[in-house]
Amino acid sequence: MSLVETLIAKMTIAEKVGQLNLVTAGQAVTGPAQAGDFRANVRAGHVGGVFNLWGRDAIESVQKQAVQGARLGVPLFFGLDVLHGHRTIFPIPLAEAGLFDPPFWERTARAAAIEAAADGIDLTFAPMLDVARDPRWGRIAEGPGEDPLVAARFAAAKVRGFQGTALSERTSIASTAKHFCAGGAALAGRDYAAVDLSERVLHEVYLPPFRAAVAAGCAAIMPAFNSLAGIPMTAHTALLTGFLRRKLGFDGVIISDYTAIPELIQHGVAADRVEAAALALKAGVDMDMVSGAFLLLPQALARGLVTEADIDAAVRRVLRLKESLGLFDDPYRRCRQSPAPPPAAHQALARDAARRTLTLLVNHDVLPIPAHVRRIAIIGPLADARADLLGPWSAAGAPAQCVTILEGLRAAVPECEIVHHPGVGVEGDDASGIPLARRLCETAELVVLCLGESAGMSGEAASRANPGLPGGQMALADAVLETGRPVAVILLSGRPLMISTLAARAGAVLAAWFPGHAAGDAIADVVTGRVNPSGRLPVTWPVNIGQVPIFFATRSSGRPPDSLDPFTSKYLDVSVEPLFPFGHGLSYARTSLANLRIRLGAPVEVEVDLCNEGPVAAEETIFLFLRDVAARVARPLMELKDWAKVTLAPGRTQRVVFTLGRESFTFLDENLEPVFEPGGFEILVGQSADRKRLLTARIDLSM
Ligand code: GLC
Repeated sequence: MSLVETLIAKMTIAEKVGQLNLVTAGQAVTGPAQAGDFRANVRAGHVGGVFNLWGRDAIESVQKQAVQGARLGVPLFFGLDVLHGHRTIFPIPLAEAGLFDPPFWERTARAAAIEAAADGIDLTFAPMLDVARDPRWGRIAEGPGEDPLVAARFAAAKVRGFQGTALSERTSIASTAKHFCAGGAALAGRDYAAVDLSERVLHEVYLPPFRAAVAAGCAAIMPAFNSLAGIPMTAHTALLTGFLRRKLGFDGVIISDYTAIPELIQHGVAADRVEAAALALKAGVDMDMVSGAFLLLPQALARGLVTEADIDAAVRRVLRLKESLGLFDDPYRRCRQSPAPPPAAHQALARDAARRTLTLLVNHDVLPIPAHVRRIAIIGPLADARADLLGPWSAAGAPAQCVTILEGLRAAVPECEIVHHPGVGVEGDDASGIPLARRLCETAELVVLCLGESAGMSGEAASRANPGLPGGQMALADAVLETGRPVAVILLSGRPLMISTLAARAGAVLAAWFPGHAAGDAIADVVTGRVNPSGRLPVTWPVNIGQVPIFFATRSSGRPPDSLDPFTSKYLDVSVEPLFPFGHGLSYARTSLANLRIRLGAPVEVEVDLCNEGPVAAEETIFLFLRDVAARVARPLMELKDWAKVTLAPGRTQRVVFTLGRESFTFLDENLEPVFEPGGFEILVGQSADRKRLLTARIDLSM
């Protein structure tokens, strides 16, 4: 009999449900505080895993209590939210998505896994794969943006990066694909709110990243807090067991979100904690994060709500996870690695990542900073911000190791006189600093205006109904802009901010998101022109929050927007166009696309020429969209089918080739089954989803 089956045979029912109990140690606070000393439960064998604890000695100490203290000595696993780095913090996931670079996404996850494992971590609650099209929702910061193909490729890359070549490797950590699913479509952009969307949109948009994560071998999946069409995800049998386990063959562990099981009572589907525990277990949830509700499963058993076979199935999956992590061979395999600081290469990787995620939204030749400039005013509440640069979910990242924007620029242009004033706070209405800040600008040759959100204004439980510049920042910007000096705005945020007025008046706007530890150096690299910006938007940037949800892959209307025809789908007061489209991002080079050529066949080949007219080398992202012009189910106006990254020296032209297999031309029919329909298709190629700037060709496929 296998080790797992032998253990299950030996376990009492209390020891079995103990394996399904995941407790927080509280070194990080990621949900409502919990009382009690979890160590006593560990020694009693009532805990299967611990999270929010890191550090070799701390983890070794707790593991010893399980292995030596509990009757059967079953080792714990240790989890943490390692989303964008562990000790070395990379840009937030939304920023990194804008690299459109799966190998790079994998590299940063690999680096994070190495650092987390060295701190004793066995499992991360990442990647977060929530497709999001609503900037009011603070968790848009944690995910891969608006597009399911980007999210799917992000999922696969991150799972590979975290899990390495084998889960048993000391530097591998188990990944947890989360939050399953559709939390990004929460009602009114409010975190945890109900989600109601069509079965079609569920399958076309929100399930693909989880299909990809399962195909890549993710070890765990975390259901979302929200309900979907009236069924809370934590009790969603059809999707947890029907889709994940039976249709996709997912045989890993399903870990509830923080106290999500008893929250089934608030959802209105369970009368008490015992019933909530039974509902979750029967739906397919294996571990209970924090609430302790699964410790009541013996009562559910006595009430006939669950069977011991149900409990054994969950225990089996948890023990198999621990076995695959190598914890039965050596419970200390990660926390007893020889102590070593994060490799220096990770700092270089963090700087490279930060530089490449910076997205130049506006530039009227204000950037890069001209070589003759000798006096720069660095203004704004985020110019000298340090901890905020890490963004939400910064794991074990030390704020003190951040390079501020002020520090980065001072180091990059020592020949310049740099003056600084915050002007205003990130929030609050104290405008008393604006006059002095303005005076400093009047004698400057260039102003770098550092605005945006604090790290806590995005991430979990951080929805904003009016996601514009907080506090008195726009008043500061008005005063600075009135000086008439060239103004380059550095925008720090976890979401697209409503900045249409600022974008219309500033000389340049660089979206920095939250770049991580190397923020100041990376921003200096780009604004000085040492690095050509190459970040592209992974999410549509609205003009006005009233446009939301706004995204490129919308279905048409029978009356598409037409400014000349009042009886069409548009607003009286705001454009239907975004401020910046998906894929937008400027460069210091002048590049262009030409000569779109299609070669029909199996596969269909699409070619286009990218030219770099200079003056500097460029890294470009070329997107390929498709529209099925007429199908029995209305198809989106544009669907992203592929993209290519091209680095091109000045003066050079390169042929870019895409191949589209038959699956690219299929869609889900009335029964949500993939189908190919002969007929007309539009192929659209370009450097963003701005339809006016795309090269387009029409093809007819008969088979
Ligand atoms: C939080 C988050 C989830 C995280 C978990 C553990 O509530 O929703 O993303 O992994 O708790 O920290």
